[in-house]
Amino acid sequence: MSKKILITGGAGFIGSHVVRTFVKKYPNYQIVNLDALTYAGNLENIQDIAASDNYRFIKGDIKDVAFINKLFEEEKFDAVIHLAAESHVDRSISHPNEFIETNVMGTANLMNGFRHSCNGDFTDKLFYHISTDEVYGSLGKTGLFTEETSYDPQSPYAASKAASDHLVRSYGNTYKMPFIISNCSNNYGANQFPEKLIPLFINNIKSKKSLPVYGDGKYTRDWLYVEDHAKAIDLIFHKGIPGETYNIGGFNEWTNIDLIKLLCAQMDIKLNQAPGTSEKLITYVKDRAGHDRRYAIDATKLNRELGWKPTVTFEEGLSKTIDWYLENEKWLSNVTSGAYQTYYKKMYG
Ligand code: NAD
Ligand code: TYD
Repeated sequence: MSKKILITGGAGFIGSHVVRTFVKKYPNYQIVNLDALTYAGNLENIQDIAASDNYRFIKGDIKDVAFINKLFEEEKFDAVIHLAAESHVDRSISHPNEFIETNVMGTANLMNGFRHSCNGDFTDKLFYHISTDEVYGSLGKTGLFTEETSYDPQSPYAASKAASDHLVRSYGNTYKMPFIISNCSNNYGANQFPEKLIPLFINNIKSKKSLPVYGDGKYTRDWLYVEDHAKAIDLIFHKGIPGETYNIGGFNEWTNIDLIKLLCAQMDIKLNQAPGTSEKLITYVKDRAGHDRRYAIDATKLNRELGWKPTVTFEEGLSKTIDWYLENEKWLSNVTSGAYQTYYKKMYG
């Protein structure tokens, strides 16, 4: 069946993998990628599919109400898959308002545009909101986040995503707008901006710069290979039940320091260095403000109801990710020039 789908944030890390999956797998769909191309957006991420017949890119800002309303009125989308967001916790600590404006107001603008363009008839329509496990707050040593876990966001980023999730549910309840929300754990893979832990540390090891480990390094995250997330989004979009929430995770918990040691060992092999060379770069630095101790997702609902499970092991995914960064020198040097240098100096001195 033909569908016109708006994917927001499709020039970013996860969005680019989602856009590629949909453009390649569904030639009958018209995929429109809306992205403001902030520091995190990069058309190089999707240049391989840019000339596809079923694909169009539109540069635009979800904060711009008049632009968003006009876009929805003209295009009459059947569905929205919403990924555009400010996504880095450290930046939300220094600039919270940008997160509130994009993640909360931007989401509301999209839903208003969608709702008005549907003109009360939501038959076969869907607003699919991509969210994070960070809305649930921090876990102690045991337990997992389920879809029933109460929201308890701890950073401005997490709070802005939690607020947007609440807004989406409220539009479902109030206006009967069909929606789905998925909350995913930490992603890693090709095309991730090198401000997040894994690509930052790959880049630093490559450039023999120190590896800034926050606090005691014993913070825990649940890591999922980005292509497994894109596959989950595809499955949920097509088979998920409107009104439902699905947690997506890797069943793959690592303390930061253990992950960093594995990354260092793999980097030593790939760079033909003596074992232990990269680990010498580890430097413990001041902790992140309000740092969540542990995240871990229970993704059994998605497995039980839709049959999804991660397909890429962490060792394999990490190895593929390192290879991608080592093979894409130009991508890395383009994104780490200019404004990145200013950000880096401000964050890490
Ligand atoms: P990213 O920062 O790599 O990409 C975000 C994209 O959104 C960029 O292309 C950027 O240009 C675009 N964007 C930002 N502000 C915009 C605006 N005002 N208008 C239009 N476009 C704008 O982020 P990501 O890591 O790919 O995350 C994508 C989504 O997935 C986000 O909603 C995030 O909350 C969620 N998520 C991310 C992770 C993760 O580990 N990265 C985990 C779970 C959920
Ligand atoms: P990050 O990739 O920023 O993802 P999130 O905060 O969304 O989980 O960070 C992952 C973990 O790595 C988190 O516990 C913070 C830690 N971290 C460092 O120790 N040093 C760093 O320079 C960065 C960016 C993160």
